[in-house]
Amino acid sequence: FLPGRLLAGGTGPLYVKLRRTLEDAVKVGTLKHGDALPPERDIAEYAAVSRVTVRKAIDDLVAEGVLVRRHGSGTFVAKPVSKVEQRLSQLTSFTEDMARRGMTARSEWLHKGVHTPSPDEMMILGLAAGTKVSRLSRLRIADDQPLAIEHASVSGEFLPDPSIVTSSLYAELEKRQVRPVRAVQRISATNMKEADAGLLGVPVGAAGLSIERISYLGSGRAVEFTRSLYRGDAYDFVAELTIGA
Ligand code: GLP
Repeated sequence: FLPGRLLAGGTGPLYVKLRRTLEDAVKVGTLKHGDALPPERDIAEYAAVSRVTVRKAIDDLVAEGVLVRRHGSGTFVAKPVSKVEQRLSQLTSFTEDMARRGMTARSEWLHKGVHTPSPDEMMILGLAAGTKVSRLSRLRIADDQPLAIEHASVSGEFLPDPSIVTSSLYAELEKRQVRPVRAVQRISATNMKEADAGLLGVPVGAAGLSIERISYLGSGRAVEFTRSLYRGDAYDFVAELTIGA
């Protein structure tokens, strides 16, 4: 993909020239959305620049959201995100939301474990002393597009072994007949910190939506307390409003 005129044209430091070249390759489509970038050392060799120069050019493009670094798999050309329109009145799972749009949901697991609950978890989930909580953290992906990071805490009574959840948490809860039927959700604005931005493939400081959901059984027992970070550029939350009595 690298053109012969790799560092041609323009003034300024080498990394700026390389950055411009890579940006142009994306603009004209030599580098397509979703394409993997060759390893840094190959680019360095081809362009006859140092790896530090390559790294700097790539860092800038990652910060701009043109490229995305994926842990363990390399650097890719970012895909323009298509917006998800999410109704606020229905208690659905991520897997169901994506399936309804004809998209395939998958998760990259960040953590699964059984823990002694924190004071917050004890209060919110109504846990007694000596009980356990299952924590599940994952990057939520739809059709290869990372959309959200979710940290769920589920009462150990309802989910004693989080390792059995491989895809949908709600499907697993349903199997155990403890799928929540009601939830309270709070959405607030935030800016992405470095680690989260890296996972979601957005620039540091990009707009995010921080979403907290506490969901309950019909009996009023809390099942799940989930803190999520959604990409601000990927979601529209829509609610139907009716005039109050
Ligand atoms: C949404 C909610 C989470 C919930 C999740 C379950 O993303 N914000 O609170 O835990 O759905 O999704 P799934 O059943 O796909 O794991």
